[in-house]
Amino acid sequence: MNSPSASASPASASGMTSAPRQQVAPVDAAPSLPAAQWLVANWQLPAACLSILVIAALDLGQRADFPVASFYVAPVLLALWSQKTQHALYLAYAATVFSVIGFMRGPLGGPHGEEMATRVLSIAMVWLAAALSLQRWRREKTLERAFSDMERRVHDRTHELTRANSSLQTEIADRKGKEELLRQLSGHLMHAQDQERRRIARELHDNSGQTLAAIAVNLSRIENLMPDAPLKMRNLVADTAAMAEQTSREIRTISYLLHPPLLEEAGLLAAIGWLANGFTQRSGIKTEVDAPSEFERLPADIEVTIFRIVQETLTNVARHSGSKTAFIKLTRQPGEIVLEVRDEGTGIPPEKLEKVHGNLSALGVGIAGVWERVRQFGGALEINSNSRGTTVMVVVPLPGEQL
Ligand SMILES: Nc1ncnc2c1ncn2[C@@H]1O[C@H](COP(=O)(O)OP(=O)(O)OP(=O)(O)O)[C@@H](O)[C@H]1O
Ligand SMILES: [Mg+2]
Repeated sequence: MNSPSASASPASASGMTSAPRQQVAPVDAAPSLPAAQWLVANWQLPAACLSILVIAALDLGQRADFPVASFYVAPVLLALWSQKTQHALYLAYAATVFSVIGFMRGPLGGPHGEEMATRVLSIAMVWLAAALSLQRWRREKTLERAFSDMERRVHDRTHELTRANSSLQTEIADRKGKEELLRQLSGHLMHAQDQERRRIARELHDNSGQTLAAIAVNLSRIENLMPDAPLKMRNLVADTAAMAEQTSREIRTISYLLHPPLLEEAGLLAAIGWLANGFTQRSGIKTEVDAPSEFERLPADIEVTIFRIVQETLTNVARHSGSKTAFIKLTRQPGEIVLEVRDEGTGIPPEKLEKVHGNLSALGVGIAGVWERVRQFGGALEINSNSRGTTVMVVVPLPGEQL
């Protein structure tokens, strides 16, 4: 919105009549008009001047039988019609002067008293017309003042609005910049988190896991090396070996969950299959995977993203849904990957569902993290939930394959 157009329309916008503008504008514009045009627009004034001169000539050189003086009001009325109200005042003065001179030149048309009455009446009419003109002039002035006051206020307000608008624009640009920065930062964080998980997974698997496995093997060997040892002692060694083996297995699982080597080696589908099996074993929730048998490898970062989303949504199914089943559906469509994770549980509580569709950051880290991961790729997240279950649907565009 720029100020010129905003300040040009206040009269109509505010419902104010256009009368003052019509009366004032032509007068201001008059000097710039060519003479003929000006005469057409302001013919009343020359007509009034001409007629007062004719009446004065007849009056002063009075030889008519009728009272010419009573016609002095006509030019004043003509002037009243003209654009400039003060003309009516000048003509009223002129008419009064001519009438008084006419009277002083002596009665011609009748008895002196009658003539005087005619002239007084005529002058009264002239000044009545002039008073009307004056009143109109005052009204015009008041309107003009009100109009210019309103224009000034509209101008000030427009100025204020323009300033507010530009500071708003700056703030929006600032916020957009910050949002972009935040988006980049969370992208970096997520990437760093994945790298860190991979590092910890490798450490756990290659060091702690291997050492524990070696401890378990050694303990078994110790058990075999002392067949004559007391039973209590042999049992203790056997239990410790079993515990070491169990912990080694757990560390292996944790390591794989942190970063499944299958994901890199065999691809997303194999990793999801492995995750679903392990999930079923650990949680008792029957999990089905529906995906095409032929599933091409995807860019590594997209595979990690989808794997993490499946991981988080399955964890949510186990923690919150109370469902006995879970379904994972993976579809590859032209230009995008669609993932759907569905359960038949109690659904997301309504007060949380509101936040899912509004302020995600007010929820846990899980769904917000899913959204953040999807956003990094310009994808979409849709969550539908009711008392019959929850479906999380994610669409991730494939780079270089956009339609
Ligand atoms: N499948 C589901 N069924 C029912 N409720 C769910 C489901 N998934 C999410 N929710 C609800 O949505 C909320 C938000 O989930 P979100 O994963 O963001 O956080 P969280 O699981 O509570 O914590 P975390 O940050 O550890 O993931 C949950 O607290 C839960 O109430
Ligand atoms: Mg969660």
